[in-house]
Amino acid sequence: MTRTRFLGTGHYVPSKVVANDDLAKVKTTSDEWIQQRVGVRQRHYVDFEKEPMGASDLAVHAARAALLDAQVSKDEIDLIIYATLSPDRAFPGDGVLVQAKLDIPAGVPALDVRNQCSGFLYGLAVADSFIRQGTYRRVLLIGSEVQSTGLDFSDRGRDVAVIFGDGAGAVVLGPSEDEQAGIRALCLHADGRFANELHTSYPSSAEMPRLTPERLASGVQYPQMNGKTVFKHAVSRMPEAILEVLSKAELTAKDIDLFIPHQANLRITDLVQRRLELSDAQVFNNIQDYGNTTAASIPLAIDQAAKQGRLKRGDLLCLAAFGAGFTWAAAAIRW
Ligand code: UT7
Repeated sequence: MTRTRFLGTGHYVPSKVVANDDLAKVKTTSDEWIQQRVGVRQRHYVDFEKEPMGASDLAVHAARAALLDAQVSKDEIDLIIYATLSPDRAFPGDGVLVQAKLDIPAGVPALDVRNQCSGFLYGLAVADSFIRQGTYRRVLLIGSEVQSTGLDFSDRGRDVAVIFGDGAGAVVLGPSEDEQAGIRALCLHADGRFANELHTSYPSSAEMPRLTPERLASGVQYPQMNGKTVFKHAVSRMPEAILEVLSKAELTAKDIDLFIPHQANLRITDLVQRRLELSDAQVFNNIQDYGNTTAASIPLAIDQAAKQGRLKRGDLLCLAAFGAGFTWAAAAIRW
């Protein structure tokens, strides 16, 4: 039986570090509030004065690192999957931009995934199906976000703006004939009844014109979030999804060597950890330094965990995400 294996990982964050105190200079917030409610100490933003970059540029850096780590050449990639909520353009998607910037041969397909915080896991499920069927053998899967250009830095948007950061993560995936290795189980879920709990709705093709000066002045181009509802659903849906993949793989939470959750909020992760009775050694967090990087957060954390020696060959890695949509997903992987 063919399984999908991680052949290499990489990440990239822009160099400008923005501490909580820096945000407190432009809006009414505090380091204490952000650390207590979210767990973030700092995040990285693209420095538009020194080095302007779009999400596809961050993605290129992360992808190069993953290709190097995998010892796979750009010419061997036969599918690109790219997850983001902050593409450089409305269309075409960033997948083709990365293809051109990395000089991946013409004809290789590029698929863009729009599942926000769950985007990387949705992309992983698509890659896994193609690889197990034998359709593609070297898949470049990227999550990349530039959030900083889309945040409301006035007091109106302070609940959302303090959470997010810019960054990218990438992995190279391929087939393995070792039945014990690689992706053992995946699950994907969505509930569109909650689409209005976390969204950026403008410019909207459902309106003529798509954005008016009046609407722009009211801040509708920024993310709108009902944080408490998102929080409440995240802390129940993530453990449910993890137990679902563990059960499919005939494993239990005790078997997990490392749990890497989507880095949404440290309090969310703590509650999920407690529900699953995981020790601190079983859980990886880096939200303190990067904030929530949406589709990039899981691959960025996987790369760091692997490079720091927290993730070793044969370990059972569990991934889970929850976000806008609502969408949520999990995976159990033998590293
Ligand atoms: O990636 C997945 C998507 N997002 C998430 O997973 C986010 C899930 N939700 C959350 O993380 C939390 O709901 C937040 C961190 C967004 C907010 O935390 P909360 O404990 O739910 O706070 P709240 O919205 O109920 O606000 C509590 C107070 C309010 O003041 P009053 O009404 O009690 O006087 C807010 O106005 O905190 C105030 N507040 C702030 N104060 C300082 C909200 N944002 C800030 C801020 N700094 N940045």
